[in-house]
Amino acid sequence: MVRKKKIAVVGTGYVGLSFAAVLSNVGYKVFAFDIDEEKIETIKKGKAYFSEKGLDELISSGLKKGLLVPTTSYEDYLHEADIVFSCVGTPDNCDGSSNLDHVFDVGKIVANLGKEGVIFVQKSTVPVGTGRKLMKVIEEENPNLRYSYISNPEFLAEGSAVYDTFKMDRVVLGGDSSEAIDYVLGLYKSINEGMEDIDLDAVSEFAHMYRAKNNGEEGFNVVKTNLESAELIKVTSNAFLSLKISFANSISLLCNQTGADINEVMDGVGMDKRIGRSFLYAGRGYGGGCFPKDVSGLISIAKEHGVDLEIMEASTSVNSKMPNEIIKEVKEKAGSLKNKRIALLGLSFKPGTSDVRKSPAIKLANLLIEEKAFVQTYDPKAMEEAEKELKDSVIYTSSIKEALEESDIVMIATEWPELTNYDYSKHINDIKDKLIVDCQNRLDKEKIKEQGFDYIGVGR
Ligand code: UGA
Repeated sequence: MVRKKKIAVVGTGYVGLSFAAVLSNVGYKVFAFDIDEEKIETIKKGKAYFSEKGLDELISSGLKKGLLVPTTSYEDYLHEADIVFSCVGTPDNCDGSSNLDHVFDVGKIVANLGKEGVIFVQKSTVPVGTGRKLMKVIEEENPNLRYSYISNPEFLAEGSAVYDTFKMDRVVLGGDSSEAIDYVLGLYKSINEGMEDIDLDAVSEFAHMYRAKNNGEEGFNVVKTNLESAELIKVTSNAFLSLKISFANSISLLCNQTGADINEVMDGVGMDKRIGRSFLYAGRGYGGGCFPKDVSGLISIAKEHGVDLEIMEASTSVNSKMPNEIIKEVKEKAGSLKNKRIALLGLSFKPGTSDVRKSPAIKLANLLIEEKAFVQTYDPKAMEEAEKELKDSVIYTSSIKEALEESDIVMIATEWPELTNYDYSKHINDIKDKLIVDCQNRLDKEKIKEQGFDYIGVGR
């Protein structure tokens, strides 16, 4: 365990809350700050305000141990923290750039209330160059504070936030102080060492949706670098992954025209270790709070520096057209969708989460509504969040069976195992057009056809 033990985590989103809960379970005193009282009240009751496998249990046990302190009061606790991890949101501005208001707010708070010698660790995804600007703000706000600043981007994915926090595959640390970098590295090593009592299998259900298992490899890779490189590693990783997805989606359109099967094509391509199979799953495109925002943020910061990242523009445009391509194919097979009843299954942007931000499943719902279809939806976790977006434009049901009732077509928009393992043949007579649209290519196409359904995948 590293010498200093009190940690502040600012921002209780997926990153901040998972990190705070994990740290409190490996023996650290953690103050989890958020300005939203409602969120803090929920956390104090022992649960997250969003759905994430294993997180509620860790929050409860952190609270029970007296090591996790959820709070809205910086004044009461921030001065006690030896390290402050900033995990606040960076929503996108209308022009695609990142809104850094919260990031700079945290800088000012730490400048005014931070302990002498505090290590300020930036975990939020910020454009390259933000760290230096933030250091200037801190120094203007309180020229007397002795502190170190480190960029330590987070790579966890939603749906496997707890798993990824315990089993990170790399730790990237950038900054001017090698002492502070080593200090934070020690903290990560202690997470790895302190997880003996944690049942990782119980939180791994959604950890390998788009990537291969790491075959039990222990430990993690470490990158020590400068501030700007660390900042850029994070956004570049997300940008490259989005490119892989858009590349697979582009090739899937060619598969549609030629009789090739994109899943089999990418299985073959991915066997080349230089390429890899991860993130080459074609479908209705990527969504969520990260890829769309990080890609537009990267395009925007590059423009500021006079660099035209046209390759990323292409990724965005391929991605945004995938739901339209699916609707086009459904119409080719089923004719006009006017007055058809569509059972739209899955609304979250990926399985394992209640998050519907920029979810292509929501886009599919909206496109179906534009076509004047009736949409009957079901999602295992995201109904409440989806209702905020879709309001009364769709019908909300409480089970797959109910969503299928009197439907014409079934569309599986998000590959929750509950939806992809379901035996739709039980209800074949309820589904008038006998058409299943597999928007994330996770069904056994041949089996579905043998059962008497028509099948549409994305490139297969
Ligand atoms: C992503 C990155 O994977 C994380 O490493 C990163 O830390 C995180 O963003 C972040 O910046 O905070 P996340 O957005 O939670 O994580 O989820 P992913 O598993 O990456 O999926 C993103 C989207 O891409 C989903 O809509 C998913 O359905 C889609 N996807 C993913 C595909 O369509 N095909 C694939 O092959 C992979």
